[in-house]
Amino acid sequence: MKAMVINAFGGAEAMSMTEVATPVPGPGEVLIRIRAASINPVEWKIREGGLARLFPCKFPLILGWDAAGTIAALGDGVTGFAIGERVWSFCRKTDIQWGTYAEYVAMPAGSVAPMPTNLSFAEASTIPLAGLTAWQSLFDVAALRPGQSVLIHAGAGGVGSMAVPLAKWAGATVIATARTENHDYVRSLGADHVIDYATADFVAATKALCPEGVDMAFGTVGGEVLTRSYAVVKPGGLLVSITDKTDKAEAERRNIRVKYVFVQPNGQQLRRLAGLVEGGTLHPPEIVEMPLHQAAEALERSKSGHVRGKIVLIVD
Ligand SMILES: NC(=O)c1ccc[n+]([C@@H]2O[C@H](COP(=O)([O-])OP(=O)(O)OC[C@H]3O[C@@H](n4cnc5c(N)ncnc54)[C@H](OP(=O)(O)O)[C@@H]3O)[C@@H](O)[C@H]2O)c1
Repeated sequence: MKAMVINAFGGAEAMSMTEVATPVPGPGEVLIRIRAASINPVEWKIREGGLARLFPCKFPLILGWDAAGTIAALGDGVTGFAIGERVWSFCRKTDIQWGTYAEYVAMPAGSVAPMPTNLSFAEASTIPLAGLTAWQSLFDVAALRPGQSVLIHAGAGGVGSMAVPLAKWAGATVIATARTENHDYVRSLGADHVIDYATADFVAATKALCPEGVDMAFGTVGGEVLTRSYAVVKPGGLLVSITDKTDKAEAERRNIRVKYVFVQPNGQQLRRLAGLVEGGTLHPPEIVEMPLHQAAEALERSKSGHVRGKIVLIVD
């Protein structure tokens, strides 16, 4: 099969289109013929070796954790899927090696689900990783309830484009941050208030809206944005980070809770997300499509930190 492969950590120059053996699904796995793979920032971080201490990486290595496509083969013991069925998956496995910037990927059947019937492959590929991250953060960890308030950083990003509508669906008041040019987009996702973090102090702006602080802050941006976010959470509230490590001492000092979330593959939750998409609650984000062979360029755009919605690699 064709795949964008790296043989060593590096920049754009490390990636090349290569012929590699098509994976064979093991027991309990399905083989997915990938039609679209969306880009996530973690992928350029892995390519550059920045996460090598966290993830066992093996070469040759195919990047990519999101896929939408069709079932091409079933491993021993797999039931409940049919050849040709349209599916989606968050394709992270323990070893980082056989990703989704490729024509095929083999995945445990439990991490795969039928994709929403009303989406194209490109649209569907944008949701698994970002949608599961939002779901697990807002609901599994924060147990967000109607009437609560949440500050979602980077409302226009891949995760924000899922978290804003999911939090709204849960009945929360949603405050999001984005540059002014993205405000209409973030409002269209369902945000009640949008703060321009580039021209306003997001802590003061959030406190102006929620004087006691918010029930939950979603730390989708790290560094100083995360460290300053402790100040927007009300006593007893929760700061969820998906970027940097959390500071438990600082949380205790402020009488708030803090939790780092690392998204897990979950086929059952993908089924729930598919139901929300088919029911019109959740929509795919804004998309820029690029061919698979432009994966390196796509990662450079992701690295800029200002993609609105998602970049999708189309696999012909
Ligand atoms: N732990 C996990 O399991 C997990 C899972 C998913 C993602 N992540 C991490 O979470 C982060 C977000 O992921 P993503 O896919 O949403 O990234 P993304 O799509 O690349 O985010 C891009 C967005 O970030 C916004 N942005 C940039 N700087 C900002 C700032 N200072 N304040 C507010 N918004 C800002 C940009 O909006 P503007 O153009 O308006 O600035 C842009 O729309 C990444 O670091 C990713 O690696 C972790």
